[in-house]
Amino acid sequence: LMPPVESCYNLLDFEAVARRVMKRGAWAYYSSAADDEISLRENRAAFQRVWFRPRILVDVANIDLSTRMLGSRVSAPFYVTATALGRLGHPDGETCLTKAASRHNVVQMIPTLASCSFDEIMDAAEGPGNPPQWLQLYVNKDREITRRIIQHAEKRGCRALFITVDAPQLGRREKDMRAKATALGDGGSNVQKTEGHSTDVSQGAARAISSFIDPSLCWDDLPWFRSVTRLPIILKGVQRVEDVVRAAETGLVDGVVLSNHGGRQLDFAPSSLEVLAEVMPVLRARGLDRRIEVYVDGGLRRATDILKALCLGAKGVGIGRPFLYAMSAYGVEGVDRAMSLLKDELEMDMRLLGARSIDELGPELVDTRSLGSH
Ligand code: FNR
Repeated sequence: LMPPVESCYNLLDFEAVARRVMKRGAWAYYSSAADDEISLRENRAAFQRVWFRPRILVDVANIDLSTRMLGSRVSAPFYVTATALGRLGHPDGETCLTKAASRHNVVQMIPTLASCSFDEIMDAAEGPGNPPQWLQLYVNKDREITRRIIQHAEKRGCRALFITVDAPQLGRREKDMRAKATALGDGGSNVQKTEGHSTDVSQGAARAISSFIDPSLCWDDLPWFRSVTRLPIILKGVQRVEDVVRAAETGLVDGVVLSNHGGRQLDFAPSSLEVLAEVMPVLRARGLDRRIEVYVDGGLRRATDILKALCLGAKGVGIGRPFLYAMSAYGVEGVDRAMSLLKDELEMDMRLLGARSIDELGPELVDTRSLGSH
């Protein structure tokens, strides 16, 4: 029996409902991570090693959650990150995420491997606002296909290009492999719409859809991307300080997402929070923090998680599975409620922290002394 959406009081509640009501294969694809899922666990654990240093006696009658990301004004500092195969969880797929995001004026990152077509997703945005949408790109071995995808997205009004750089091959997700063909039950026919991949499902949903991804992608390819689009270019899946610095120094990219792909790629890749704490002082010391915007994703479930990342210098944070679970259990209304709950938590926590707006969040409000000790 399905509990009403109002019985979910936080993002983790949606996960508990989804786990019970989702088809086995879909649950396996969404929830799985690489190998022994140590990075998946660490993504949550790292946030629990950072504590606040709240400020008192600040006039917090009015709290402003809005911020700018890559030049667009948005209502909150979180975005819906790209997650493939939305129709595994709900018949309306990614358009559920689009509708809720547009109601909230929250950014949605559209995945290359969406199970709705790119245009269906762009067209699903509703409401008077014109909430920004971004494109997540898996780079095809056939660059002509990739060029067409990018230029179509730009023409349709997408506002940024996120190139995924942590997935030359998709990680080994054994839960998904075991569920294999069942996972493609009703997503399979939709998956065909994505250009240039095979659909051999014997290794699970992830492997089946990813064979077109170019493992030879490298730093030398960046000028080509810069030459085919005027969109901001962001590297998604950066995992070490040296690579953030290198990305900034190329002058070709506008941002990075620190991410281990929700623990789905290399197991024992570090949590984004850990890398963030390490990299921001380096960027500031070299004056590179003004050249690139730094985003993080992985394991953020509470407003306190979001605020910790922002205090440490993130411009915004991506949230993946919680919105998939809310969508799978309740469709648009679930995602809408998940976003409302997160905004309520943010407002309350900012008030309790003594920060009235996003630009009042800074490293002085967090204690990271335990962060490095796993
Ligand atoms: C992802 N992620 C992902 N990333 C990407 O660049 N392209 C993709 O197609 C996908 N697909 C995908 C599917 C599913 C089911 C998940 C859970 C994740 C990774 C995603 O963008 C993000 O990095 C993580 O999901 C963030 O972690 P949380 O919020 O899920 O813990």
